[in-house]
Amino acid sequence: MINDIRLDGTASLQYQLYQQLAQRIVQQRYLPGSPLPSSRQLARDLGVSRNTVNAVYDQLKAEGFLQSQAGKGVFVHEDITTIVRPVVPGPERPIPTVNALPPLPVPPHNNLMMGEDTNLPFQPGLPDLDAFPIRSWNRILHHQESRWSLRGYDSIKGYQPLRRAIASYLRSSRGVHCTEHQVIITNGAQQALSLVADVFLQPEDRILCENPGYRGARHALGRFNNPLVPVPLKNRVLDIEALANLGPAKLLFCTPTHQYPMGGILNLSERMALVNWAQRNDCWIIEDDYDSEFHFFNKPFAAIQGMFDNAPVLYVGSFSKTLMPSLRVGYLVVPEQVVDAVLWAKQLSGGETPLLTQATIAEFIDSGQFTRHLRRMRQLYRDKWTLFQRRVTEDLDGLVRPVAESAGMHLVLEGKFDDRVLHQQLKTHGFGSTPLSAHYLREPGQTGLVMGFASASEKQMEGCVRALTHLLHDPGRSTPGLIPPDSR
Ligand SMILES: Cc1ncc(COP(=O)(O)O)c(C=O)c1O
Repeated sequence: MINDIRLDGTASLQYQLYQQLAQRIVQQRYLPGSPLPSSRQLARDLGVSRNTVNAVYDQLKAEGFLQSQAGKGVFVHEDITTIVRPVVPGPERPIPTVNALPPLPVPPHNNLMMGEDTNLPFQPGLPDLDAFPIRSWNRILHHQESRWSLRGYDSIKGYQPLRRAIASYLRSSRGVHCTEHQVIITNGAQQALSLVADVFLQPEDRILCENPGYRGARHALGRFNNPLVPVPLKNRVLDIEALANLGPAKLLFCTPTHQYPMGGILNLSERMALVNWAQRNDCWIIEDDYDSEFHFFNKPFAAIQGMFDNAPVLYVGSFSKTLMPSLRVGYLVVPEQVVDAVLWAKQLSGGETPLLTQATIAEFIDSGQFTRHLRRMRQLYRDKWTLFQRRVTEDLDGLVRPVAESAGMHLVLEGKFDDRVLHQQLKTHGFGSTPLSAHYLREPGQTGLVMGFASASEKQMEGCVRALTHLLHDPGRSTPGLIPPDSR
């Protein structure tokens, strides 16, 4: 029975013997109830020690493959067919094919995050990674790494000192009304948005989204196929008056303090009108406050969440821009009644956010380094914003129009060109961007490029403007070229 076992030097003898016996039993080449040789006999036949065979037999017995009968020997377990399903050997074994799979979600065309060029200079959303205070960060990281209490599990809600630090920062810097109990740490703003979808949406609930707007939000909120309803912009901010004609909705996603990507800022009366509208229509506002730390000349407007009593607001923030995207840490501030539901959703979708990272951020904030870092970055991005705008205005005059509020980390260059092609072409020159038309829901809307200047050096700005000049002037049209007037 056992003369088909072959042992060689590819792995330990015990491992090979175990694998081969188990495989033959599963494939029913050794039938249920059939006897195996004694360990002494098998050891002799295979030229291995008896201890090796005994160890394998013991393991197979413990796993239910074999059973011993007192005084009779070792047998393949009688119940083996109910323990393992028979497997048809050989090529006839049915292999699940793609056709047998259920319809799979299809990632959107041109999904940047699945590509590899996510860290090119000018990639929107990317901070200046060279300016990150890596030495101070590493000192804190090493200190936290040695703490025993950070080696185990922690709460789904997030590390308490970090929630406390965020709540205090949001109260003082953004006017958010919250206690640490309302702050839930998430794996980036992206998870915060997905959790909102998990908790708030019923089938058929409609979601209003700024148009053009942030694609990450549309993907997260639309993942259960709820209808996404575009809300147009007016003067580069959400058109509040248009809401009256768009019908009921459960959620409204917006970036009131720096509209993404067009850069407008919702003023006080518009903020009031938005909250009034939401209260009257039982709609929750998702306030994505993704880069309000970087307003260059004025203090940014306080967050809507804290401006009005009982405003139905779910507040989303992230350390991707203030620190580094690779940390994958963001936060969601919700009313107390909703906290447990969000935590349950978070537990089901991956659980805690890495504790060591959270503790490092908490110490970075508590030590005052976060505030100093923000101050430095605000100055740095202001200089870059000024420089890039100047270069674009001087060198690309008549080809693109920079659209910029004095805030943030990106600039939109509007123009009449095929922005998807230009975006691809620019990538071959080593520069990131996103096509403005890709930020529109349904209709393509305006064309242009969203350029993240924060990650670009002065030299890269020069190189990028030179590349754009060349690409936009190219008479051969092998490159994107200008769209002939009236062709759009
Ligand atoms: C509008 C907007 N919100 C939020 C984020 C942050 O997302 P995350 O925290 O998932 O990196 C970004 C990043 O680019 C963004 O552009």
